[in-house]
Amino acid sequence: MALHYFGLMLINGINYRTVWMQDTSVYLINQLLLPHKFEIYKSKDYLDTANSIKTMIVRGAPAIGATGAFGLAQAALMFEGENFDNFKQFINEAYHQINSARPTANDLKFGLDFVKSRMFAENSIANSKMKAFELAKQYADWNAELCRKIGEHGNSLIKDGHSVLTHCNAGALACVDYGTALSPIRMAHYSRKNIFVYADETRPRNQGASLTAWELAQEKISHAIIADNAAGYFMKKGRIDMVIVGADRIAMNGDVANKIGTYEKAVLAKENNVPFYVAAPLSTFDVNANSGEDIPIEERHEEEVLYIHGIDENNEMKKIRIASFESNAKNPAFDVTPARYITGIITEKGVIKPKSEDIEKFVG
Ligand code: MRU
Repeated sequence: MALHYFGLMLINGINYRTVWMQDTSVYLINQLLLPHKFEIYKSKDYLDTANSIKTMIVRGAPAIGATGAFGLAQAALMFEGENFDNFKQFINEAYHQINSARPTANDLKFGLDFVKSRMFAENSIANSKMKAFELAKQYADWNAELCRKIGEHGNSLIKDGHSVLTHCNAGALACVDYGTALSPIRMAHYSRKNIFVYADETRPRNQGASLTAWELAQEKISHAIIADNAAGYFMKKGRIDMVIVGADRIAMNGDVANKIGTYEKAVLAKENNVPFYVAAPLSTFDVNANSGEDIPIEERHEEEVLYIHGIDENNEMKKIRIASFESNAKNPAFDVTPARYITGIITEKGVIKPKSEDIEKFVG
């Protein structure tokens, strides 16, 4: 088994990262099987890696950024030939293939660009291959460190006794390690604050119920899964002190694209005077997006709404139709929360106000 013991994420008492690379294979915690089965998926080539992003074996913006970076390194390592121009062309094609796996998360392009813009060394294919591999590893380490820092900054906002609502999964599984929204929660727990987490189930794919709650259980952090439409009830009763969510892409005016349903939680938070924070590394900001209008929103297959997945009483994975065969569904995977609903964006460099002037100072 490949090296996974350098992460912080605790799974069955062992420390893991979500994604890593050894030799020419990329290893991923298979998120399609959680929480019922813990398995590592071994992706043997970059096409398989691109497909793992598309099919959501790995998901979450920073995690797919690092997986994309490893995928490009895989492409470099598998190139057979001696012509440097052909090598460059092969890398360009692999870049586009991986980048088109999912459209909304900015980190995917960011991770790919990080490797591609630095990997070509002295017209030497052998050196460029080595460099691509080193850069991808560097990118993953860097991302883990950014998430650790997000945790430290975010922890200073969480008070002892606080209850925090989160949406979707922005935990270690959605990153290389630590998480974005879950990193401050982890840090608060490690610093012995007594906290409670409300995890939105997050239809249609239930990342909150199947991934966030599982991560929290692994770390023994007190929590409850709530139905997506229960957040307003708990906010109105004063049971939620703050909301922290992740982000897939942030525009330069502070509008935030995140998992579908985030927008309505932000509106509810404002109505109930609950602070609403977004946690994300600066790599999630898109310098080319002036506002949320410029962010591409992924439309996914209607099957995700019409069916649910789970285990039956014999522990067997089942896919169950929950709607009439006469019904169709619409399935936007993300929505945009306007900046005016956001209290602050927790980054590796501190908490930023969601305003163009402040964002420009941080995002170079
Ligand atoms: O469709 P997914 O599961 O990739 O969506 C993930 C989210 O929306 C996360 O909240 C987001 O990527 C932030 S992750 C740290």
